[in-house]
Amino acid sequence: MTQSSDAAKVSQETLGRPAPPCAMVIFGAGGDLTKRKLFPALYNLAKGKLLPQEFAIIGVSREQFSSDDFRQRTSQEIRQYLTGDVEQASWDQFVKRLYYIPGDFKDPELYKKLGETLGQVEQEQNTQGNRLFYLATSPTFFPIVVKQLGAAKLTEEQNGKWKRVVIEKPFGHDLESAVALNHEIGQVLAENQVYRIDHYLGKETVQNILAFRFANGIFEPVWNRRYVDHVQVTVAEELGVELRGDYYEHAGALRDMVPNHIFQLITLTAMEPPISFDAQAVHDEQTKILRAIQPLNPERVLDHAVRGQYGEGVIDGKPVQGYRSEVNVDQASSTETFVALALNIDNWRWAGVPFYLRTGKRLATRSTEIVIRFRRPPFVLFRKTSVEKIAPNELVINIQPNEGISLSFEAKIPGPIVRLGAVNMDFQYSDYFGTTPSTGYETLLYDCMMGDPTLFQRADMVEASWTIVQPILDLWKALPPRDFPNYAAGSWGPEQALELLRREGREWHDPTQKSLSLKKAAEGMSVLGTSI
Ligand code: BG6
Repeated sequence: MTQSSDAAKVSQETLGRPAPPCAMVIFGAGGDLTKRKLFPALYNLAKGKLLPQEFAIIGVSREQFSSDDFRQRTSQEIRQYLTGDVEQASWDQFVKRLYYIPGDFKDPELYKKLGETLGQVEQEQNTQGNRLFYLATSPTFFPIVVKQLGAAKLTEEQNGKWKRVVIEKPFGHDLESAVALNHEIGQVLAENQVYRIDHYLGKETVQNILAFRFANGIFEPVWNRRYVDHVQVTVAEELGVELRGDYYEHAGALRDMVPNHIFQLITLTAMEPPISFDAQAVHDEQTKILRAIQPLNPERVLDHAVRGQYGEGVIDGKPVQGYRSEVNVDQASSTETFVALALNIDNWRWAGVPFYLRTGKRLATRSTEIVIRFRRPPFVLFRKTSVEKIAPNELVINIQPNEGISLSFEAKIPGPIVRLGAVNMDFQYSDYFGTTPSTGYETLLYDCMMGDPTLFQRADMVEASWTIVQPILDLWKALPPRDFPNYAAGSWGPEQALELLRREGREWHDPTQKSLSLKKAAEGMSVLGTSI
């Protein structure tokens, strides 16, 4: 595809103005999230001139060290986690704004000290009283930190100075705990001070779903039950549970991925056009979709929800162990590492169109994609030829790793005999816009400083999401799995997940299929085509 110079030019322009002056407090400053994502993202923002000159970061965690130690340690770690290069001059500027306070999150003394440090930092760095508190801690600390911040009066908004709190996932463990957490937070903060983060919304391709749908006239008319046969969302990971067994044993694939990341993908794909791109308008439409997804009753859970756990297998040609042999995992664990669901959205646009979703660890490849499969043409016109049936058109929104969008359609294979094969129209992000080093957190942090909550989750969205998964959690708890492990690492999950679609005459899109089709096309054959 040739590059559109307009599109390429936009990517090179500086987009956006610097965020307003503020101090950012990171609780959990010694943790993985801070070093892997937050610091690289903040540095990328600084380099892109999107952070204000009047900016400071105060790290808070249990480890005892000084601000100088913190600066040194961060200077070493950044090189390890940044995808691009560290420019010494801009890093020197950045590191001057780092401060550190050790302490116990439960201890009121910590918050007293934090108040004093904020006062000092506000003087030294002129951050003007705006404060962003980032809770990069274990979820058990969310209500504790928020309560203490409130008690120390650190979150009161006065004289137009904002105070915002960013909360990481998991937001609750089930419906009841999510409602309780929202309630506890609501005792201290107004809803517009709370930024519930879902890092999927920081991904460019996820944001592009809205641009794709609502900035192009040609797709919207076919984006409904008349033309769409079904929708698939796949979030496949090649990695296993790594060293997160402790957390994952209590979470499982359903809690870890579905009510958050996958539901974000589904709501953006399925929602009605909002009346504007204001946060409230977008959130209202997303919430309507969540409310229109019918929670499965127990009988339907049995045949519309599939769970799985990986056993040993082979990934990239290397043998890997099963889930039950991973660190901090029970040898008889019944935690699911795979889930597939068939859901229905009961509204005017989508009635009768199944939304299939699946996610799992240790699957055949890493791929996150949304597939819109359209209905077949009403009849096969190519009579007296070898063409018997025609493959449906398919639109694939590839979120990662190869960000792009492709549309497959039938074409005549050259030659005197009428033969059809599916070909792809492909858009690859990198062809047009190159690649920019990004952790996915840049946009989210910037938006929070700018006071734009569109890409964050509102309290009612979180609760609506848990409402959908709760009956599945309940039934799975009541009926522990008897067949775990039931898929081999490196496969596409348990057989029942394939059956979920097969019994309805459908099949999962294979994310590896494209390269195969291109290879075959080069050999002059069609593999996607059904009828040669
Ligand atoms: C996290 C989950 O929220 O998302 C992880 O807790 C998962 O288990 C990760 O691996 C996937 O994110 P990404 O950006 O790699 O698709």
